[in-house]
Amino acid sequence: MAMEAEASSLLDSLSAVVVHGTPPLSVKWFSAERHGAELLVALNGRDRRFGVDSIGTDAAVLNTYAVIERFHPDVVVSAGTAGGWRRSGGEIGDVYVSDRHVVHHDRRIDLPGFSEYGIGRYPVLSLQNMAAQLGLKIGIVTTGNSLDESEPDRRMIMASGAVVKDMEAASVAYVCLQMSTPFVAVKAVTDLVDDHTPTAEQFNTNLTMASRRLSEELLRVIDWLIPRELAQLD
Ligand code: ADE
Repeated sequence: MAMEAEASSLLDSLSAVVVHGTPPLSVKWFSAERHGAELLVALNGRDRRFGVDSIGTDAAVLNTYAVIERFHPDVVVSAGTAGGWRRSGGEIGDVYVSDRHVVHHDRRIDLPGFSEYGIGRYPVLSLQNMAAQLGLKIGIVTTGNSLDESEPDRRMIMASGAVVKDMEAASVAYVCLQMSTPFVAVKAVTDLVDDHTPTAEQFNTNLTMASRRLSEELLRVIDWLIPRELAQLD
């Protein structure tokens, strides 16, 4: 997870306790036990220079790699808030589960072979049954390092068919693919990109509510995953 505000409701619900991180990285790790399973909530932590949460792909890659190296998790979930679109039926507070693959929308490399490399198309666990049982929306998650959507981003997003826009999922999935660790993204919508209200304003208004929704649904996802063998899911 990238932001403390996104995680605080989840950490409270889990009565999670601090785990020693991996200095000098700014990561903040917490552990919890749930129905016999060990959970690790890994926040990217605060940027030491700028004093803000380390959102975006760089910090997500570092944290994910450090976690997988140390804990060898059965599954990694990229959880957080995201933008949605009215045109895709998105609503504020919706919680989406990633489907098919996750992509990047701001890595445009018009050279042979590199276009596909830039987009990534990293695999995700196939959790359509779970989403149907839990009443969650599913779709392609697209990642970039900007909160807004530029015109070139918009064209890439239209081409990929993505319905959720975040700033970490594809980079977490990239590490998971290198490390052969199953991956899924769970994202709660704070803003609708095609609404007339500026994205940042929607984000600030809805962050608390969406983070609470994220925590509620993430716990249901975790409870669904815990008793199942991962081999059954693929
Ligand atoms: N997180 C929340 N809203 C977002 C958006 N519109 N784009 C990227 N990340 C987000």
